[in-house]
Amino acid sequence: MAANSRQEKIPWVSTHHTTALAGSLVILATAGGKRYLIALRPGQTFHTNLGHFRHDDLIGLPLGTTVYSQLGHPVLLMEPSLSDLINRIKRNTQIIYPKDAAYLVHRMSLRNGDQVIEAGTGSGGLTIALAWAVAPAGRVYTYEVRADNYQVAHANLERVGLLDNVSMYQQSVEEGFRQQGADAVFLDVREPGQYLPQVRAALRPGGFFAALIPTVNQVIDLLTALEASSFADIAVEELLLRQYKVVPERLRPDDSMVGHTGFLVSARPVIDATDPGRWLSEERKRFKTRKAFEAIVEAEEEKRRAEQGDEAVRRRMPLP
Ligand SMILES: C[S@@+](CC[C@H](N)C(=O)[O-])C[C@H]1O[C@@H](n2cnc3c(N)ncnc32)[C@H](O)[C@@H]1O
Repeated sequence: MAANSRQEKIPWVSTHHTTALAGSLVILATAGGKRYLIALRPGQTFHTNLGHFRHDDLIGLPLGTTVYSQLGHPVLLMEPSLSDLINRIKRNTQIIYPKDAAYLVHRMSLRNGDQVIEAGTGSGGLTIALAWAVAPAGRVYTYEVRADNYQVAHANLERVGLLDNVSMYQQSVEEGFRQQGADAVFLDVREPGQYLPQVRAALRPGGFFAALIPTVNQVIDLLTALEASSFADIAVEELLLRQYKVVPERLRPDDSMVGHTGFLVSARPVIDATDPGRWLSEERKRFKTRKAFEAIVEAEEEKRRAEQGDEAVRRRMPLP
């Protein structure tokens, strides 16, 4: 019953349609590669430099139809993909790219009905992907410290029709999360390692933790904090996505690509009080063992040098 009433509130995102519905979002794609995302409202007109399109002329048309501006320029009327929604939101911050958002959904094993916590909201780019994954029965609880970013994300989520599946808080992670027993917690803040106690308090046993961070230094800090806070199954990953020039006779990659977006770090909390070193990766254990061995050898060397020094001093001493 609850799920049905929620579905009624988000008709266009919960079901695929074959025609352009009033109130839904559509993409108008030009042959030149531009993509416009518009909400179809009876009586309104959408203006572009190719001319304008009356919404009433588009409503009810089959998706996949070529439509023409009053100047005769063609555009293709399509259902937006999730990438279209994320790429076309208003940006107040850097947003998480669809390639990373898609993999994070997979990494955190999100599905319809999950309860997922996120901070910071930023422009709401990832929030859209999270809400899409857990809707209609699930919920995203998203925390943002800055009022301006909160407002932009709120408007973005409202526009794409996913606000009903999101609870937004203008609040710092530092204060902790208001939820407990979450299926997953995701952090996109500068120093995620500082907030692991808050993450632990909010996650259900067996829950998923993930973070996205842009620099190697931040990854090292987070790894150190995860080890110290008894997180296990730790992974550090990076995704590179290469687009191709779509010419069957001469198929080859685009000349340029997005070189770096961020590192994805994921981990699972250990809830019993076991030896925290037990769940380190094999490489990490080997490294720690080698370092411990080197420290012992170095201490022995130091002791031997000191003893040899004492002996040399003693031999040079004048006889009484
Ligand atoms: C890179 S943006 C997040 C972008 C977002 N993932 C998206 O796809 O649109 C980082 C956000 O975290 C917010 N932030 C930083 N520290 C925070 C904290 N302690 N609590 C809550 N939000 C925080 C910043 O204000 C900023 O909006």
